[in-house]
Amino acid sequence: MTTLLITGGAGFIGSHVARKMVLGHPEIHVLNLDSLTYAGNLENLTDIENRSNYQFIKGDIVDEAFMEKFFATYPIDGVIHLAAESHVDRSIANPMAFINTNIVGTVNLLNACRNSWKEMKGKLFYHISTDEVYGSLGSEGLFTEETAYDPRSPYSASKASSDHLVRAYHHTYGIPVVLSNCSNNYGPNQFPEKLIPLAINNILHMKSIPIYGKGENVRDWLYVEDHAEAIEQIFQNGINGRTYNIGGLNEWQNIELIRLLCRIMDEKLERTSGTSEGLITFVKDRAGHDLRYAIDSSRIEDELGWKPSLTFEQGLTRTVEWYLENQEWMRRITSGAYQSYYNNQYGDR
Ligand code: NAD
Ligand code: DAU
Repeated sequence: MTTLLITGGAGFIGSHVARKMVLGHPEIHVLNLDSLTYAGNLENLTDIENRSNYQFIKGDIVDEAFMEKFFATYPIDGVIHLAAESHVDRSIANPMAFINTNIVGTVNLLNACRNSWKEMKGKLFYHISTDEVYGSLGSEGLFTEETAYDPRSPYSASKASSDHLVRAYHHTYGIPVVLSNCSNNYGPNQFPEKLIPLAINNILHMKSIPIYGKGENVRDWLYVEDHAEAIEQIFQNGINGRTYNIGGLNEWQNIELIRLLCRIMDEKLERTSGTSEGLITFVKDRAGHDLRYAIDSSRIEDELGWKPSLTFEQGLTRTVEWYLENQEWMRRITSGAYQSYYNNQYGDR
């Protein structure tokens, strides 16, 4: 394989995947295609931007004509598809952007592969998806690759739809594919609309930490570089047509997670113990808020030998340190358009 297209490589997970592939695979030419929405940020990639095996191209996967031309221009052998609208709350406010990028954009990519790949041998379309397609768990059980799809938000329904389309193109047109469905990621470069970076930013500025409902919802958290490692392994060794679940075996109720984060922040900021916890504010619940996600990742562990490398305390401490060292990054992306979105959601806290 010589030319790899990464879509959404300027986003949170995509930038970690792009870095891993560029630095770890000098034999691969990496094209990063991203339309640079509010969530895309080329600052995430300054350390690799001058590498000879890396190239950034600004473009929108929803633009069918552009995508066809793009595939006619570059000899793409493999795709790791991460470009998406990714925030559940935004999907509740504006579902259409999610239908366009996550469904239509994915189909445009699949069509471009289908039209340009005359010979399927040596080609691969790797679709990055989410555990949210499986719906919501009660207090017991784990999502496996066999769990029936039951998406419950516009975001998860759009991702479920794209997963089905990827499998349909595999079965109908013979496109070689792999898919992975991962749990909640956290780590450096995550846009501060998601729980962990939002809370870090608010604690830093002594603003309230909005907790939806009673904070009893459970998520399974995975450090982003562990996810990028899993993606690299699946890309290289995953079996054609197969799906892999990826999780951290690391379930936390939101309120307990935030209490841990508050303790770490108090320590790092040398504040009196309990200062950050005092900022916790229970707010109106998210509409249709899924109670619990938890992943059984035994397939990827058994078949590919992957497992998370960091404990949550280690990963969270690293994450807090990164955000404290990169306050300029945070300040720049939380000004302007994002600030008005945030104030709209939560009021000017
Ligand atoms: P993100 O929102 O941080 O980044 C998305 C990137 O896609 C941005 O760089 C954005 O500019 C780009 N993009 C959006 N629309 C585009 C378009 N029409 N054309 C080209 N580029 C476009 O997202 P993320 O959190 O890094 O998630 C990446 C992928 O991983 C998504 O597919 C998401 O569903 C999936 N995923 C995320 C998580 C998580 O916890 N963040 C967990 C499991 C799966
Ligand atoms: O499970 C994988 C998914 O994880 C990914 O597919 C999504 O792209 C990603 O955004 C994430 O979705 P969540 O909705 O779980 O993540 P978020 O950080 O938005 O919320 C985590 C939990 O915290 C959830 O139960 C809602 C709650 N929450 C979130 C925010 C932003 C709050 O209580 N307060 C908040 O301000």
